[in-house]
Amino acid sequence: MVVKNVCCIGAGYVGGPTCSVIAWKCPDIRVHVVDKSEMRIKQWNSDKLPIYEPGLEDVVRECRGRNLFFSNNIETAIKDADLIFISVNTPTKTYGIGKGRAADLKHIEMCARKIAEVAEGDKIVVEKSTVPVRAAESITHILSANTKPGVSFQILSNPEFLAEGTAIENLLNPDRVLIGGEESEAGAAAVAELTWIYNHWVPSEKIITLSTWSSELSKLASNAFLAQRVSSINAISALCEATGADVTQVASAVGQDSRIGSKFLTASVGFGGSCFQKDLLNLVYIAECVNLPEVAMYWQQVTDMNVYQRTRFAKRIVECLFNTVTDKTLAVFGFAFKKNTGDTRESPAIYVCSHLLEEGARLNIYDPKVERSQIEYDLTSAAVTNEPERIKKLVQIFDDPYEVVKDAHAIVVLTEWDEFKTYDFKKMHEVMKKPAFVFDGRKILDHEALIKLGFHTETIGKRFTRNCLLRSSGGDL
Ligand code: NAD
Ligand code: UDX
Repeated sequence: MVVKNVCCIGAGYVGGPTCSVIAWKCPDIRVHVVDKSEMRIKQWNSDKLPIYEPGLEDVVRECRGRNLFFSNNIETAIKDADLIFISVNTPTKTYGIGKGRAADLKHIEMCARKIAEVAEGDKIVVEKSTVPVRAAESITHILSANTKPGVSFQILSNPEFLAEGTAIENLLNPDRVLIGGEESEAGAAAVAELTWIYNHWVPSEKIITLSTWSSELSKLASNAFLAQRVSSINAISALCEATGADVTQVASAVGQDSRIGSKFLTASVGFGGSCFQKDLLNLVYIAECVNLPEVAMYWQQVTDMNVYQRTRFAKRIVECLFNTVTDKTLAVFGFAFKKNTGDTRESPAIYVCSHLLEEGARLNIYDPKVERSQIEYDLTSAAVTNEPERIKKLVQIFDDPYEVVKDAHAIVVLTEWDEFKTYDFKKMHEVMKKPAFVFDGRKILDHEALIKLGFHTETIGKRFTRNCLLRSSGGDL
């Protein structure tokens, strides 16, 4: 078989960009991305794509209608395809056994059943979603229990490592591509087909073939290691604040050890995103299920430290604002979980804002890419409050950062958008209540300059003595 038709079930943050890049790099392959959501598909076929990702629009514009198609015709797409990616969401379970920790595989199972129901001929089914180790076994069981004559399936694991905000860059130049398959002749043939697709643009030495179980576990382990680095530096940031050290200097010093490396050592208000917390909890759950409580406890600490970090930051805001934020207006810069995305899933902003709202603060929020309705939804959902009507009255969302700060007591930076660094903070200081505060949860602003302008400035992993000097000398503060 030479793959001519690819189908991708799930037109989300992974399925959309991944298949757009496959279509762009493989003009000889027809790529059909399908989703059960009519709204999502409508957006993929419009000028305003459902997700913001630098470079994505150009790729979609070039390929859409040529060899890239988005539709809700799931059955047709499965029938036509030689190879099917499953890229549906695998969120943390919110009910039943494993609630709050295990990955919910109901969408994966529905895909497997749909494929078994409508497939005609041989198919390669590729697990692109992040799944618990041995999930491919369940897919295989469902498919083989429902196989019709003349139909055969090969299951591959091919986890995705793109990060949001840099998805296109990561897809074009991946550090590695993992392909896990069955150790048999048919398994090897399926691996060769998927390798052939990636070989259109990824050099062979970056394509790693491994067992299906190793491939599945490597994805969870990679995210756990990355999240662990962020929690490690955040733990050090708390020590810095208590001792007078500066976490930027410590991170730089530590990161220059080539065995440690300098990436992913930026202290912050905490990690967010749809993956880290979910995959860590999944790992913890798997460890518990195989009776390894010490292993489970070890990884649990990574997510506990993250909760501690964002709570610590929110509490510090209240403390600095003379122990009360009730009826004070705070200007929030950034709501996305990181820059260059409009995604807010597990964003630390949700938790910091909820803490401040709980304390009675009024929040003026600005984010360059997050939809107004998304912010409203995130702050009023049942997961964060049982008083949605009260919250609605306390939150205002703005399109202009200079409007956000009017009469505000403080600016709170929760996402590291580049544009925040370019603002005229002198102008902002003039229209704010005094003393005016800045809480930089992302360490992106010029703190010395802010202090000179008269802002009381607080950030992660560093204490500014000059704030105190100004206070004791009867200065602006
Ligand atoms: P997403 O929620 O953005 O997209 C998933 C899509 O699947 C949704 O549009 C949903 O409507 C669709 N879907 C669900 N069930 C379906 C079904 N039965 N039939 C058709 N469509 C269905 O999720 P995502 O962020 O793209 O993540 C997908 C998977 O990739 C997850 O397992 C995630 O852990 C993993 N992953 C995500 C990222 C990331 O940065 N977001 C990176 C690497 C891996
Ligand atoms: C992550 C993984 O990086 C990616 O490989 C996987 O496929 C999906 O999950 P993503 O969540 O999109 O990607 O973004 P990432 O860049 O990993 O950032 C995650 C969170 O950690 C963000 O909130 C970010 O702000 C935070 N972070 C990251 C830090 O606080 N400090 C750092 O040094 C790095």
